[in-house]
Amino acid sequence: MSATLGIDFGTSNSAAGILVDGRPHLIPLEADALTLPTAVFFDFEVGQMVVGERASAALLAGDEGRYMRGLKSLLGTRLMRESRMLLGERLDFIDIVARFLAELKSRAEAATGLQFDRALSGRPVRFHSADARRDAQALLDLTEAYRRAGFSEVRFMNEPEAAALANREVLAPGDLALIVDIGGGTSDFTLFRQKGTAEIDILASHGVRIGGTDFDRHLSIGRVMPQLGMGSPIRHAFGNDTHIAPNAIFNDLATWAKIPFLYGPDTRKAAAELEKFAVHPKRLGRLVRVLEDELGHDLAFAVEAGKIMANTPGVADPVVKVGMLKPGATLPLPADWMTARLAPLADEIGAAASDAMATAGVAPEQVDKVIFVGGSSLMQVVENALRMRLPNAEIHRGAALTAIVDGLAIGAATAFDG
Ligand SMILES: Nc1ncnc2c1ncn2[C@@H]1O[C@H](COP(=O)(O)OP(=O)(O)OP(=O)(O)O)[C@@H](O)[C@H]1O
Ligand SMILES: [Mg+2]
Repeated sequence: MSATLGIDFGTSNSAAGILVDGRPHLIPLEADALTLPTAVFFDFEVGQMVVGERASAALLAGDEGRYMRGLKSLLGTRLMRESRMLLGERLDFIDIVARFLAELKSRAEAATGLQFDRALSGRPVRFHSADARRDAQALLDLTEAYRRAGFSEVRFMNEPEAAALANREVLAPGDLALIVDIGGGTSDFTLFRQKGTAEIDILASHGVRIGGTDFDRHLSIGRVMPQLGMGSPIRHAFGNDTHIAPNAIFNDLATWAKIPFLYGPDTRKAAAELEKFAVHPKRLGRLVRVLEDELGHDLAFAVEAGKIMANTPGVADPVVKVGMLKPGATLPLPADWMTARLAPLADEIGAAASDAMATAGVAPEQVDKVIFVGGSSLMQVVENALRMRLPNAEIHRGAALTAIVDGLAIGAATAFDG
């Protein structure tokens, strides 16, 4: 039987579900896990692509191959159409996203015995909040990826609207609520009212391109990249003058989706030149080694783990574990330093929530409940920025990693009716 699969294709994690007996049923995609890291690994030894936890495990084991995570952030950019040879085939990034989605489709089919020709996919309200043309292109890219993955048709639902559907029972009749979905790549908001029936009224949705991977980037730039020579002086080839090492390589190395683009010969050569003229060659030497040994993602994982450690109440002396730079080495990541560093991003997220309310002509005082979903809604700094702007709202925590796919499973049942 052909059916519609609800798919949350996330920057960091993906999930799939269908409606069973009127309730959302999440399909286990990997062992018993209901979410799958949105990651792929092209294994050069075995000659195949693996996804999810297996991809991350291969990376951490140091297997020879190419790892990619955060691909959703590339949708709409020119990098999507760049192709490269991988395991003997010329692939662009749309193909790579398509292969991830095809794997998800076939696992969902194997787990349910159904055939999924159609998908109801989540989408951020804005893939690119600063560029309407890129935003439109991102949707075209994702639609194309679904088509190449073997879906004959795909429809989209705003991710926070899916979360609103999944959380409608939390509200009393007449309640006005704001969904706050802070994920890996974007922050998304839906203001909605419980109508007193099974239905909800969506008053406004809004989004901004800031998420957990941006937190990781800012923390990496603040704490880790200086150890690799970011901001440090480089001597001119002639004379005694110096200039500051250019930021581009470091910015990309701190950005999940950009890391795979750094392992070509040009970047390695540029790094070797910097080391040669560096006032602090030890630091730039670390950059050279990170590029040579392809340790960019290992660093990104270490920063992400440090972020979660520093955000966990009661953890004494949180650190980023950078043993890949020097055995046993750690860099301190005090919670108050992290808060100060991320406060401007949290404030932008708060401002986008305020915009959502303003669009609907709703005063913040009128909002009865704020429902937090998405992994990065667990960040204290985010919760504080939103509490400040919603003085009367009762805080409710939805299922951080599965609220969106729950809503897509509900929506999938009727997505292609009419
Ligand atoms: N306990 C935690 N504390 C802080 N951040 C966390 C925690 N757990 C996960 N995260 C962060 O949440 C993010 C992933 O959240 P989520 O799975 O909701 O994103 P996504 O749906 O993949 O992304 P998007 O919806 O933006 O495309 C990552 O940046 C991760 O570091
Ligand atoms: Mg999400």
